[in-house]
Amino acid sequence: MRFLSVDQLVPGTRLARPLYGAEGLILLRENFELTDSIICRLRGMGYHGVYVNDEISEGIIINDVVDEKLRIETANRLEDINVGILSVGIGVKLEYNRDKLIQLGMSGMLHDIGKKFVPTDILDKSGKLSKSEFQVIQTHPERGYEMLYKAYNLSSVTKIGVLQHHERFDGSGYPNGLKGHEISMFGRIIAVSDTYDAMTSDRAYHKASQPSEVIEYLFGNGNQRYDLRVVDYFSKCIAVYPVGSCVELSDGTKGIVLKNYSDSVLRPVIRNIQNKQIIDLKNDVNYLGICISGQMQS
Ligand SMILES: [Fe+2]
Repeated sequence: MRFLSVDQLVPGTRLARPLYGAEGLILLRENFELTDSIICRLRGMGYHGVYVNDEISEGIIINDVVDEKLRIETANRLEDINVGILSVGIGVKLEYNRDKLIQLGMSGMLHDIGKKFVPTDILDKSGKLSKSEFQVIQTHPERGYEMLYKAYNLSSVTKIGVLQHHERFDGSGYPNGLKGHEISMFGRIIAVSDTYDAMTSDRAYHKASQPSEVIEYLFGNGNQRYDLRVVDYFSKCIAVYPVGSCVELSDGTKGIVLKNYSDSVLRPVIRNIQNKQIIDLKNDVNYLGICISGQMQS
């Protein structure tokens, strides 16, 4: 068995493993004989390659490091997809090319795969974790990396992102306490998108925070726990105060968001609900000392 890129496939080649679609369902069964038109369709669907049996690879057995179906099921877990999507959003702002964006997206989606080795009673515990329980949780980046290490269809940067997503810019993270640029860009990016996703979601141990609160937290920890440049790019990917949402200013004024600035996401243009006055929080000098203090239910 060996892995062949789609460009190397020829009609008559037989699949060594089932081929799964995006939904985790089998598209082509093991031992399926490829035809010209199927190869062409695989290329069109974006497959990089498939496992095949041929003379050259006879007798070669590839042990599953990550079962293909498990990989797809993992990819389908919404929270992990969120982190993948948010990470890719940052990658787009950083002008990564398509291949690098795919590598980054995979890293974001697989970042917590090592949690499958952590007992669920620890993962789902609503109370404070004991020191020993926290130490078990902290093994998940390395366990995930070890699991993916021999998956040669994943790039090394993808795996490194998994290993380093809990490293922190100031060296306070784990597993290796790396600092600043010792941490790969993928690790720094996933750290930000994972934190945002975790803090804006209801979890067993905390209620969801508002996007604006989390952005302020991330900026507040810029170049401490997080790479400020990554936080800045990230803030441009999301609508902290979506147009049409209701906000309250620190002077008590209530307004509706009319327009966002991508370079100043916490200071949009709003319309005062009471007197219809337009307030440009970014450019109006009269409002330099005023900020948005909270969001209201519309
Ligand atoms: Fe994690």
